[in-house]
Amino acid sequence: MATVAQRYDVRDLKLAPEGTRTIAWAAHEMPVLGQIRDRFAAEQPFRGQRISACLHVTTETANLVLALQAGGADLVLCASNPLSTSDAAAAALVVDHGLSVFAIRGEDSETYYRHIAAALDHRPTLTMDDGADLVAALHKERQDLLPTVLGGTEETTTGVVRLRSMAEHGVLRYPIIAVNEAQTKHFFDNRYGTGQSTLDGIIRATNVLLAGKVFVVCGYGWCGRGLASRARGMGAQVIVTEVDAVKALEAVMDGYRVMPIAEAAKEGDIFVTVTGDINVIDEAPLQAMKSGAILANSGHFNDEINLQVLDGMAQDVRSVRGSVEEYHLRDGRRLFVLAEGRLVNLAAAEGHPAAVMDMSFANQALALEHLVRHTGELEPRVYPVPEVLDREIARLKLTAMGIRIDTLTAEQDAYLKGWESGTR
Ligand code: ADE
Repeated sequence: MATVAQRYDVRDLKLAPEGTRTIAWAAHEMPVLGQIRDRFAAEQPFRGQRISACLHVTTETANLVLALQAGGADLVLCASNPLSTSDAAAAALVVDHGLSVFAIRGEDSETYYRHIAAALDHRPTLTMDDGADLVAALHKERQDLLPTVLGGTEETTTGVVRLRSMAEHGVLRYPIIAVNEAQTKHFFDNRYGTGQSTLDGIIRATNVLLAGKVFVVCGYGWCGRGLASRARGMGAQVIVTEVDAVKALEAVMDGYRVMPIAEAAKEGDIFVTVTGDINVIDEAPLQAMKSGAILANSGHFNDEINLQVLDGMAQDVRSVRGSVEEYHLRDGRRLFVLAEGRLVNLAAAEGHPAAVMDMSFANQALALEHLVRHTGELEPRVYPVPEVLDREIARLKLTAMGIRIDTLTAEQDAYLKGWESGTR
């Protein structure tokens, strides 16, 4: 129940019953996190810990924070993107569970950072981040809070890149576990999660038929791979653009056409950026695109498509459907941008399905527990998720799916560890 002392800023507490139902719906697909929550409830690993979490406020995230709360954590949650919040989930966390939540779908930039500041006012001993905006604000504006922070976790590729840069510049002041680097995170969340939810966002926003369309995927990391294969599965002709020769080669051998964005721009019907870099679709490709082209981004930040330049090329910009803006250019062409160039999978759909977030958030939960159990032992740098936790999560997921696998015999195990045996 919401308490008088509880601080929060959410859209509407009356949305709580809807949030309660959808959080429970997601929980059905999150058996690994459910088991961890039950153990946490018994062992209370987070008693005495204050967590400030900056994550997409979805029904899946709600299940994560409830697992941490069951483990004794005193937790405050804010949004890691202005457009990704489920207002119903946020309301349910406040009303049903007494949590402090600062997140309103569609909040402006000033509110977004005010909410991060409110989460930091909690004086965290642990942080959880998705994109590193909270950690950056803590290091830039609230250094007074740093001495009592024992560690943090980071969910996404972009955040890990940012935090590594902080560590390399000698700025990072406490250890961070890069959840993104666990195999049970990026193999599944980035590939199958982004792959499916990005198409989901494009389809919900536009209702376009993908079959027969030329679908350009900018970036062939784990997200790009998942997206390309799913777009092909829906009958699109996929073109991949890349800057990394190995990844480009992989895309070629996976059967895609690979070319520079300048050439792809002339052919594409739908463009999606998943690179983690800025201005991937810049003025030259924007000038070359066919009228009617659809542009979306599924990378963490909203700077992969140069919307400022596009705005300058437009004589008029108007909303044509929810999440679709038409840029009517002075040369007569019309380009359509989805979800203001922000994460289309979260802004126009509901983000990754719960079944993959189950593993991502199992990693988050176990990584936080690891930080508490190793208080004072870690340095201020970016660490991987311990391999033993990664393997355990895969094992639990398989068990939950009812899938059994073989184990090595003693003879096979010894063989793999030895060197004497060769050609027979
Ligand atoms: N990132 C991508 N999808 C997500 C989801 N469903 N919940 C939280 N974070 C996400």
